[in-house]
Amino acid sequence: MTAFALHDYDRVVFFTGAGVSAESGVPTYRGYGGIWAQYRPEDVASEAAFQRDPETVIAFHETRRRHVASCHPNPAHRQIAAWQRRHGGVTVVTQNTDGLHARAGSEDVIELHGSLWRMRCRQHGSMVDLSDGPYRQRQCPQCGQPMRPDITWFGDPVDRDAFEAAGRAVQQAALFVAIGTSAMVWPAAGFIEHALHAGATMVEVNTEATEASRCFAHCLRAPASQAIPAAFPLPEGAD
Ligand code: APR
Repeated sequence: MTAFALHDYDRVVFFTGAGVSAESGVPTYRGYGGIWAQYRPEDVASEAAFQRDPETVIAFHETRRRHVASCHPNPAHRQIAAWQRRHGGVTVVTQNTDGLHARAGSEDVIELHGSLWRMRCRQHGSMVDLSDGPYRQRQCPQCGQPMRPDITWFGDPVDRDAFEAAGRAVQQAALFVAIGTSAMVWPAAGFIEHALHAGATMVEVNTEATEASRCFAHCLRAPASQAIPAAFPLPEGAD
């Protein structure tokens, strides 16, 4: 497999999707066994569903949160975190809500689609951290409105600060590595063409070809937990 010396690139973006966590046991969204093959997003992952039936929506997210809590970061998450510790120009932009990059030790992860580990008030943006407790129906301490999972659901706008931070990182990237995303969900998928037009060296890590594969000079068709340590080896003597 082609190997890339990360120190040759002053700015690097790892852009991740559900496939990076698949080998940790977190189901992807699309394809065989995917979440959207079991649930209809309009029933459990939209503002309209939450207004109509908050109990069902909360139960879906609590099931996911509990499952993710039982999963562990895999060698792909860990290799990315190890690189972040030794290379100041590495940014992680993720569409995932599972928190596994942070649990592997990555810092300042840009979460484009929110997090399973937070609830927020849609009025004030105030947040409740769920790292120690389950989802339940909660009211905003300021306005009393029901809080919702801090997840970008279908039809929701992407968080503006996260989107802008990701855009800045992508614009500067000399190396852009997309891992385990079908590149079907916008605007996140647009970062791939953005990186290409900004002149980055483009690497795709995915077990299958995707909608965006034509944008990549290097397509590594292997599971992320094998491909990431092999394609981005740490310098000799490093942990
Ligand atoms: N290693 C690498 N790639 C993998 C692996 C693996 N072990 N397993 C699966 N994949 C790839 C699949 O081939 C697929 O292209 O991961 C991709 C997963 O695609 P999706 O399920 O569509 O996940 P993602 O692209 O992250 O979805 C984007 O859609 O509904 C949502 O908001 C949700 O953030 C999510 C967004």
